[in-house]
Amino acid sequence: MWHIKVPASTANLGSGFDALGMALSLPLECWFSLAEDPLIEVRGEGSGSIPETTDNLVWRTADFLHRDVTGQAFPSGHLTIRSRIPLARGLGSSAAAIVAGLMLANTLLPERLPRDTLLDYATRLEGHPDNVAAALYGGFVFAWEEAGRVRIKSYPAPELRCILVIPDYKVSTEEARRVLPERVPLADAVFNAQRLALWIDALHRRDWSLLKEAGKDRLHQPYRQPLVPGMQALIDTALSHGAAFAGLSGSGPTILALVASEQADAVLNALTRAASEVVPAPSQLIDVTPSYFGAEAVLEGWQWRAGEPMGFNTRSHQTVNNRTFN
Ligand code: HSE
Repeated sequence: MWHIKVPASTANLGSGFDALGMALSLPLECWFSLAEDPLIEVRGEGSGSIPETTDNLVWRTADFLHRDVTGQAFPSGHLTIRSRIPLARGLGSSAAAIVAGLMLANTLLPERLPRDTLLDYATRLEGHPDNVAAALYGGFVFAWEEAGRVRIKSYPAPELRCILVIPDYKVSTEEARRVLPERVPLADAVFNAQRLALWIDALHRRDWSLLKEAGKDRLHQPYRQPLVPGMQALIDTALSHGAAFAGLSGSGPTILALVASEQADAVLNALTRAASEVVPAPSQLIDVTPSYFGAEAVLEGWQWRAGEPMGFNTRSHQTVNNRTFN
């Protein structure tokens, strides 16, 4: 039985639209074993609404990669998916499902693909690189596209708590991208470029006092505000109670605050009060940490973490339901 574990992710972090991503310690997990009768089960977030058929995104992605590489359908088997990532809330639920599908197919390929190739596939399927890069590699990443390939740089994530205000309504990424303008004023592009440079400097210096300014954004949050009522009030509340950073998580509607442990209670309490006043729906507030690890696939004693070099020399021969894995 293969066990795949992929973290949730937050993207943009204010000024880093489609560039910055960070893995969060909320996992999507899958278990897969080969079997003649296919069976797909969904537990946790999305159970009852996510298809338990071959239309399932994890399955579809595994099948896509398997067919693309081998020309054959992904083999029949039992797949159980259990996710703790709320859907369509800006926490990388689709990125995690896509990465899980790629990891799953990769375990069954005759020659396993390296992580940078999985990143290219994941970005093509997801449409933007920030969530999938964080989900694959873990920690804090920034991504860019160069000559048709996706490139990333990784950093250890900030040693800060991640307080999430997750409103009880969905915003689809497609919808949240449709509201963005095709052209932006030069002054706004310059504003974000300056602050994104500051983000990277803050990561190098591990100086979180810079994040309040580094996290300001003029490229996406202002346009998305109508989709996320109360967004600016929640950001202001978090910052005025000591958060190092606050912004829209991905395309929303979740608001993310990065907070030192000493301020976490004050920020959590203030956000709880503010959410009940400014968010026109109940909200769930959770306090998680960044995830150091990215996607991982485990077969009994054999393990490959997506953020590490492929350990081909550690391959073992395993027989599962009469099929031999190399
Ligand atoms: N960078 C993407 C966006 C992230 O903001 O549209 C979506 O989660």
